[in-house]
Amino acid sequence: ADHGVSVVAVDGPAGSGKSSVSKAAARRLGFAYLDTGAAYRALAWHALDTAIDLDSADAVVASLHGFAYAISLDPADYGVRVGATDVTEAIREPRISEVVSKIARVPEVRGHLNTLFGGLIAGCGRPGIVVEGRDITTVVAPEAPVRILLTADEAVRLSRRSAELGGASAEALAQQLSARDRQDSKVVDFMTAADGVTTLDSTHLDFDQTVDAVVELVHRVVPLE
Ligand code: DC
Repeated sequence: ADHGVSVVAVDGPAGSGKSSVSKAAARRLGFAYLDTGAAYRALAWHALDTAIDLDSADAVVASLHGFAYAISLDPADYGVRVGATDVTEAIREPRISEVVSKIARVPEVRGHLNTLFGGLIAGCGRPGIVVEGRDITTVVAPEAPVRILLTADEAVRLSRRSAELGGASAEALAQQLSARDRQDSKVVDFMTAADGVTTLDSTHLDFDQTVDAVVELVHRVVPLE
């Protein structure tokens, strides 16, 4: 859908640097930033908080009714709330990462969140928005003028993630990461670039070079102010 907002859609696997790269690119571009994974994580937090049976799709769908999440679209002031609770830090905890796939695989959940994302994108109040997730290039914003699949070799993703987590056991991390990707890719194929999607492989790029590459791709299509 044309929201009157230039959408930069970024998909990719866990540990590809998607979130930090998308946020930095949004800042450079003066665009809003939407982390869709945070909404899935916030719903997982809410489900755990209210002791929902995550193995019951019906229970998970029912939990959508009481789910009031708010997410900041300002890349310089990132934050996520559920009701009155600031869950920005809590949604990164391993207990969330372990269960979030159970929520993300429920089609009604995806439909509900996608509707919310559409509203957030349309009302973002900036000329453009960088939207990051797994199905942004294909489902949430297939008409976006810029669509990017951000990838990196698994070994590189792993070492980046392990540095991010401050040296936790690389082997345990490897298992977690590939288990999650396996779970998640059953729901959405985010390892293959869809038609018209630009693959950006960051294996041999550092953070700044990756952000530069995203900004450059945007400037090729979206006129500068
Ligand atoms: O990007 P992330 O690790 O914060 O994503 C959290 C979970 O949500 C992950 O298991 C994949 C899922 N997800 C999804 O299915 N679709 C999206 N657009 C974003 C995230």
